[in-house]
Amino acid sequence: MSVAALVLAAGRGERLGLRVPKAFVPLAGRPLLLHALAAIAAVPAIERVVPVIARADLERWERLGPELAAIPKLAAPAFGGAERQDSVRAGLGVLGPNTQWVAVHDAARPFVRPPAVTRVLEAARASGAAILAVPVSDTIKRVRAGRVVETPPRPECWAAQTPQVFRIELLREALAKASAEGRTATDDAQLVEWLGVAVAVVEGDPDNWKLTLPEDLAAAERWLLLRGQPGGRGP
Ligand code: CTP
Ligand code: MG
Repeated sequence: MSVAALVLAAGRGERLGLRVPKAFVPLAGRPLLLHALAAIAAVPAIERVVPVIARADLERWERLGPELAAIPKLAAPAFGGAERQDSVRAGLGVLGPNTQWVAVHDAARPFVRPPAVTRVLEAARASGAAILAVPVSDTIKRVRAGRVVETPPRPECWAAQTPQVFRIELLREALAKASAEGRTATDDAQLVEWLGVAVAVVEGDPDNWKLTLPEDLAAAERWLLLRGQPGGRGP
């Protein structure tokens, strides 16, 4: 099983609302992206870690120098695009023909734990596609124009996380189909779902959340203090 990981960091972080691109915002003194890269590189089955950054951030990336050297398995960055799908495509573009499996992870999820990644890799190996997700606590409403259109049964509602792991040809095919149909998805599994392929769900850790809003940064700093060293077991 030859596995590579893409760590997506080419977004602008508009909802975070800072001048620094989200992936380069410091968390406990290190850019968010470094936390995510180090956690993914710590997964034994992952052989290569490809960061996908915005071309405009290349200088910021190069300035990380020695900190990058400390991360094993790290490849040169690929340059992402305007949409998440463009960034995934760019990352896939640098993977060689020997790569059979790809794990796609958000740089904005710095707290991912290697054992959860191993679990989702194993599930993908059995089914072709698998994601980490957690059951939601709130009842979810589908809302259009300020009105509830549907209340899906809560026990069936899970919040999708990353990494999401795919047999590489499956993800390539899914991207090609979405692009031919002009469709954009909010996660990578959705592209594979559109092929009619079943995606396995593996229960993840609730702390593998995505930093998105301004208040998330302070919460993440507090969380790191509670958890101790990045990669530690936490409270
Ligand atoms: N991402 C990417 N390329 C894009 C869009 C997103 O590589 N064109 C990455 C982001 O860098 C992030 C992850 O996908 O690590 C999850 O996306 P999100 O949380 O939405 O981050 P941003 O798109 O950067 O934030 P925002 O939507 O608030 O602008
Ligand atoms: Mg976004």
